[in-house]
Amino acid sequence: MVMKKIVQNHEGCIGCGTCAAICPEFWEMNDEGKADLKGAKISPDKKEQELEIEDKDMGCNKDAAEACPVQVIHIS
Ligand code: F3S
Repeated sequence: MVMKKIVQNHEGCIGCGTCAAICPEFWEMNDEGKADLKGAKISPDKKEQELEIEDKDMGCNKDAAEACPVQVIHIS
């Protein structure tokens, strides 16, 4: 089982909405106009959101990471 980590620099999200548009299974816009990664752990300072999933379940997240105009979605 290959695990991958998706990390969003939540603070740096400018709320363009692209991730939620192309990858709604994982991303949704919140009341503050920023994208939330569904099911993610939120860092205590609320600056990062992090989700570990199996590589085979990565789905559209790579597309979301590539499409984000400010490159705040990272997969490792
Ligand atoms: Fe924010 Fe990038 Fe998504 S700016 S809304 S994380 S595409």
